[in-house]
Amino acid sequence: MARKVIIAGNWKMNKTASEGKALVEDLKPLVADVAAAEIVVCPPFTSIAAVVEAAGGSNIKVGSQNIHWAESGAFTGEISAEMLKETGVEYAIIGHSERRQYFGETDATVNQRIKAALAAGLIPIVCIGETLEEREGGKTEKVLFSQLEGGLADITPEQMAGIVLAYEPVWAIGTGKTATPEMAEETHNYIRCQLKDMFGEAAEAVRIQYGGSMKPENSAELVAQRNIDGGLIGGASLKAGSFAELIKNAIA
Ligand code: PGA
Repeated sequence: MARKVIIAGNWKMNKTASEGKALVEDLKPLVADVAAAEIVVCPPFTSIAAVVEAAGGSNIKVGSQNIHWAESGAFTGEISAEMLKETGVEYAIIGHSERRQYFGETDATVNQRIKAALAAGLIPIVCIGETLEEREGGKTEKVLFSQLEGGLADITPEQMAGIVLAYEPVWAIGTGKTATPEMAEETHNYIRCQLKDMFGEAAEAVRIQYGGSMKPENSAELVAQRNIDGGLIGGASLKAGSFAELIKNAIA
């Protein structure tokens, strides 16, 4: 089954509204002719409105970096799916390793957030991945299995087909250390096999991004792998030139 490549920029806590707008204005002409990949940028909440407006009418879509599971209520500092939907975002990153590491996010809350996103009509980009210690301890598959099992509990095969997964080995994020294409493919293949066990044929439709120091120099060989369907990009998405080059190399 042909899966459309999806490349998403995770800006993390970078770019004010005006900086984000400028980045998107610079990016638009550079990727205007890209039809083979879905392009998404995920700014901080405060920059979303400006970025949605700047991206209007282009092939650049917008996502959030997090989402709360409740519809509304006493959750100081949080943002609901409905609030995000109204801003014009179409995607929501869920369960990024930095959220898990610094903000106590668990597979159970990831699961709740996924359900909230789906209920609002947002496409979840669900992050999973092992730490260096877990990889060196031979626990990679065990960790991924429990993240998939817990994070995707009660999700139907129909819902799963529309969810994007991002496999991000934690040791490769922001470190310049990328998994080799072969190493990444082996893990992506494992993830798809688990999805098949859990969701049957719907697993073939699920796009699995690789994330962790993806850059213009390595996006082509990573995305060329059979089970790697795009990327979730941190550092290299913060400059229009490098992000555009990374995208173009990935689909060349
Ligand atoms: P990086 O970040 O590309 O800077 O390694 C990826 C991510 O955390 O999504």
